[in-house]
Amino acid sequence: MKAPVRVAVTGAAGQIGYALLFRIASGEMLGKDQPVILQLLDLPQAQAAVKGVMMELEDCAFPLLAGMVASDDPNVAFKDADYAILVGARPRSKGMERKDLLEANGAIFTVQGKALNDHASRNVKVLVVGNPANTNAYIAMKSAPDLPAKNFTAMLRLDHNRALSQLAAKTGKAVADIENMAVWGNHSPTMYADYRFATIGGESVKQMINDDVWNSDVFLPTVGKRGAAIIEARGLSSAASAANAAIDHIHDWALGTNGKWVTMGIPSDGSYGIPEGVMFGFPVTCANGEYTIVQGLEIDEFSRGRINVTLNELEEERAGVAHLLG
Ligand code: NAI
Repeated sequence: MKAPVRVAVTGAAGQIGYALLFRIASGEMLGKDQPVILQLLDLPQAQAAVKGVMMELEDCAFPLLAGMVASDDPNVAFKDADYAILVGARPRSKGMERKDLLEANGAIFTVQGKALNDHASRNVKVLVVGNPANTNAYIAMKSAPDLPAKNFTAMLRLDHNRALSQLAAKTGKAVADIENMAVWGNHSPTMYADYRFATIGGESVKQMINDDVWNSDVFLPTVGKRGAAIIEARGLSSAASAANAAIDHIHDWALGTNGKWVTMGIPSDGSYGIPEGVMFGFPVTCANGEYTIVQGLEIDEFSRGRINVTLNELEEERAGVAHLLG
């Protein structure tokens, strides 16, 4: 059996936490041969609820669960962490302006970035789920100057998975057979889900669908506003599918994609004209614990327009938190 790895999860008492922790402990994220120690962070007032979740985790008797720690202190929860999934964030409350939301989350992610910087493994892989995910990941990255910037990522995988399912439904084909899907930009309704390069059994999905109006008027709004549609239908936000996307993101980053494209929010290296450091969704492949941006894709005029919209939104958010980062 391998030595256990330490997985820190913040917002452990929340909805996504409840849909996530049991799957991590069962081995779905890092493999059925990888024991894990869960290090759970939540606010002081949520510690009783975290204890309850830990009791249930115990009662599952997961063979791979090698230990658990609960804390309200990021310096404890991130100690020696090999993976950190940052789910806990400040939700937008009634009457809250975007500026206030960025400010409240800025306070959380500067502290957590610094705690990762000071206490986590030097190879820690960080995934930010809590919204605004890209900008929160950017803040954490900037607050952790001693860790490699490439270790900080934001979750675009839910958008990617939503896009795959919409394409499968439209073409009548299986999700598993769709290759080369890309999502660009911010995890927000401005994201650009791009199936121009997608194939099924070697055939072009764009040609199969052959309907640009469906792309711009149905597909993109459906994927972009899916979170709101789920809140409308369920009365609660999309927690299980978000947790599933987090599992997929870390699984593929750690264990590889065998050449398959997935989408990750990562600090740009300047590819496709996205300014360096912007936390942007790109199509990537993963191998040996590293991601690589898929290169050489042609960006047509429609796509450049969409990419610019989502980039501008991220640049505005980045400007909105600049004063927090010194
Ligand atoms: P929730 O409200 O059920 O749970 C959030 C948990 O985080 C609570 O237990 C709360 O006490 C905790 N928390 C708040 N501030 C914290 C802090 N500073 N440190 C540690 N824990 C803290 O919310 P839910 O449904 O679990 O969603 C969590 C976040 O994930 C939200 O920001 C939501 O917008 C986001 N989200 C992101 C998605 C994505 O695709 N990137 C998809 C769906 C949700």
